[in-house]
Amino acid sequence: MTSTSGSDGNGELRGAGRSDAERSDAERYDAEPFLPGRGGLPAHRRAAADCHGCPLYEEATGTVFGSGTSAARLMLVGEEPGDQEDRQGEPFVGPAGHLLRRALREVGLDEEPAYLTNAVKHFKFTRFEHGRRRIHKPPSLREMTACRPWLDAELRLVRPEMVVALGAIAVRSLLGPTFRVTKDRGSTVPLPPPPGTERKDAEQARVLITLHPSAVLRSDDREAAYAGFLADLRVAADALH
Ligand code: URA
Ligand code: SF4
Repeated sequence: MTSTSGSDGNGELRGAGRSDAERSDAERYDAEPFLPGRGGLPAHRRAAADCHGCPLYEEATGTVFGSGTSAARLMLVGEEPGDQEDRQGEPFVGPAGHLLRRALREVGLDEEPAYLTNAVKHFKFTRFEHGRRRIHKPPSLREMTACRPWLDAELRLVRPEMVVALGAIAVRSLLGPTFRVTKDRGSTVPLPPPPGTERKDAEQARVLITLHPSAVLRSDDREAAYAGFLADLRVAADALH
């Protein structure tokens, strides 16, 4: 039975009706104290493994940091690791990842060294069937905000030219509440400079807004959704080639 009390994970995203106790909790959700003061991606990956910046580390197997080279011109940002990613410790290795990799191949972006990561680095889920099945839950705004320093660090260290925001959570995390996947997909907008980034670098980076690959998998008309996803990704491919 699912509760109808309205206290689901999506309710948190809207932020309305939170108690004062939850509001003061929000101030304590922050990955920043866990970031290493220096070092490259490997140092950050090691430090992220011990992040307790929000409660999501408690239930998940481990942190799923981004993967790829700091030389990548292309960065892909998803929502959060899924069940497979949580087990394997790598982003985009489950069904959504397979679809994404196939799409990248089809638009010729597989040749391009890419950095793959997520807006939130721990898997959030509910257990069903006596704990046997773990069903994904979207991260709350608090959790997204807490985890943002890791994404900022990845953006600083990789300095991609093109960032692909896969779905609403990535769009929200990278660009704030102004943009919507439904109305803005297929367009690119400048990446707001992450803290500590020189202006010159930030000016180069653009964000392509598109669907999450899971939305393609869930779609009633999967073929049409996939074609639309490819069309969006071609915008990034054209910009990079
Ligand atoms: N979905 C995501 O958003 N990220 C992953 O890494 C896997 C599935
Ligand atoms: Fe830290 Fe992000 Fe994991 Fe929360 S989700 S514990 S902020 S790495």
